[in-house]
Amino acid sequence: MKNYVAPSLLAADKQRLSEEIKLAEESGAEYLHFDVMDGKFVPSVSFGLEELEKISKLHKMVNDVHIMIENPDEEAIKYAKAGADIVTFHIEALPCMGCLAKTIKALHDYGTKVGISIKPRTKVNALDPFLQDIDLVLIMSVEPGKGGQPFMKSALRKIKYLRRVIDRHHYDVLIEVDGGINEATVASCAQAGAELFVVGSGIFRHANYSQPLKELRDLARI
Ligand code: DX5
Ligand code: ZN
Repeated sequence: MKNYVAPSLLAADKQRLSEEIKLAEESGAEYLHFDVMDGKFVPSVSFGLEELEKISKLHKMVNDVHIMIENPDEEAIKYAKAGADIVTFHIEALPCMGCLAKTIKALHDYGTKVGISIKPRTKVNALDPFLQDIDLVLIMSVEPGKGGQPFMKSALRKIKYLRRVIDRHHYDVLIEVDGGINEATVASCAQAGAELFVVGSGIFRHANYSQPLKELRDLARI
């Protein structure tokens, strides 16, 4: 199984974002994780549409956009149009389950991949009915809203469950994990069956990004 590390731009130096993106790309990252927060679904506000439009033009990594916002059924398509390759929204933020199918269809019709994320307290089997229609599941291993929090081990059980279900049905769904991923936690996530590892502080707190990226990949046995 091929595994990937996605540096999370939330932990980068906001004063020199374009340089940070260039450094992440040069260090070999294939995905760039972009966190959108609206101050409602989560308390903080981070990047938005305008920044996404700008940064999309600056690199060729997969634009992995994680929207932690209310009403993703109305908003998700705007992020696709702003340059996301994957838009991942939270199941908890949807006003109705009927909206979910509509949101998936709108993104797919536009040619954008679709991810669904669950917060630590949401049951993993809430994802079951949608696995055949989506491209990615994002397991939050911290409460969404900020970087630098410790990894919650309860994510491992969820990853293992999804790995089993996805393999059994041969679904084409990538398992991504986000929050507290570093040299100490990445291997257990890989063993559980995750394939895409979001790393914020675990990369951007270093002076050079190639070294931690390489180390994380080795630990995830890439
Ligand atoms: C948190 C965000 C993460 C965050 C991860 O809500 O979704 O992507 O940047 O940061 P670390 O890797 O520092 O936990
Ligand atoms: Zn994220």
